[in-house]
Amino acid sequence: MRLSLIRPSDMHVHFRDGAMLRDVVPQTAAQFRRAVVMPNVPPIETADDARAYERKIREAAGDAAFRPLMTLKLTHRTTPAMIRDARDVAVAAKLYPAGVTTASHDGIGDPDDPGLLAVFEEMQRVGMILCIHGEAPDAFVLDREATYLDVVRRIVGRFPGLKVVMEHITTAASARYVEEEAPARIAATITVHHLVHTLDDVIGKGGIRPHHFCYPVPKRPEDLRALRRAAFHSTSGRIFFGSDTAPHPKGAKESACGCAGVYSAPVALPTLVELFLESGREDAIRRLEAFASTNGPRFYGLPVDESDTISLEDGPWTVPAEMGGVVPFRAGETIPWRVA
Ligand code: DOR
Ligand code: ZN
Repeated sequence: MRLSLIRPSDMHVHFRDGAMLRDVVPQTAAQFRRAVVMPNVPPIETADDARAYERKIREAAGDAAFRPLMTLKLTHRTTPAMIRDARDVAVAAKLYPAGVTTASHDGIGDPDDPGLLAVFEEMQRVGMILCIHGEAPDAFVLDREATYLDVVRRIVGRFPGLKVVMEHITTAASARYVEEEAPARIAATITVHHLVHTLDDVIGKGGIRPHHFCYPVPKRPEDLRALRRAAFHSTSGRIFFGSDTAPHPKGAKESACGCAGVYSAPVALPTLVELFLESGREDAIRRLEAFASTNGPRFYGLPVDESDTISLEDGPWTVPAEMGGVVPFRAGETIPWRVA
């Protein structure tokens, strides 16, 4: 059997730099129309950084149709002028609370800092989207996302013209906020691993699974159910796919202090097909198309080319144990769908 859908876009990826970038970019470029590129590794703070990084990604992609969408990392050094300068190269700027995850030590310490508020003001003026890693670094790990929701609410309330993407949401409370409380200019991404895992799949099934470990950590079964409900059934247009594919070398994950991140790019799309078909909806593939191909680009104000499609076929393939020194999501598992 073969099925076809509008070529998806991955609205949240980590491409890294150097040899790893050259290994991982083609995996995304082969399947996705575009990808929103996170600015933490290497740090992308200025328009020039973004331009140089975009060039490297395009070279590594080897596919002129693939479009990397660049973002800036917000720090307390960011100024309104830096936003203005970057408006043509960056679609968004990313708020990492300081210390919350990989390479975020110089992220935002004080979300009410007047300098930062001036930056948000400028983003609102030029139409640059704010992407938020919504976790409070000092809160207990399972409460971080819920705690930071108050900061998100404050930013959303202060800047009535600012578009905000809550990245990789992991709780029922976040899904409810986007779907039931927030204005239409607020959206959320959901990863594929957060549609599969709870915390049990990281630490609760006979041992620690370092390759399942990421921030924010997967939460409780009821959170998983709420995320699936949002991904499979939401009709708001404001819930969309961002893989948060985040490669780290095998040894850096299998370590006494292992890095956070799941490298999902090679298996994300076949896994989504499997999950959506399992949802039991007759229109599962059209629902997947909304989640992975059209909602994200439309929220970002980008065109959707319905004639640009990708095909998947059934026919099991076994995910390699390692790809370029990185252990991918679902390594060693046999998956029923593959990209044709
Ligand atoms: O698990 C994660 N890995 N979460 C993030 O927010 C960042 C990412 C990375 O860059 O490794
Ligand atoms: Zn990320």
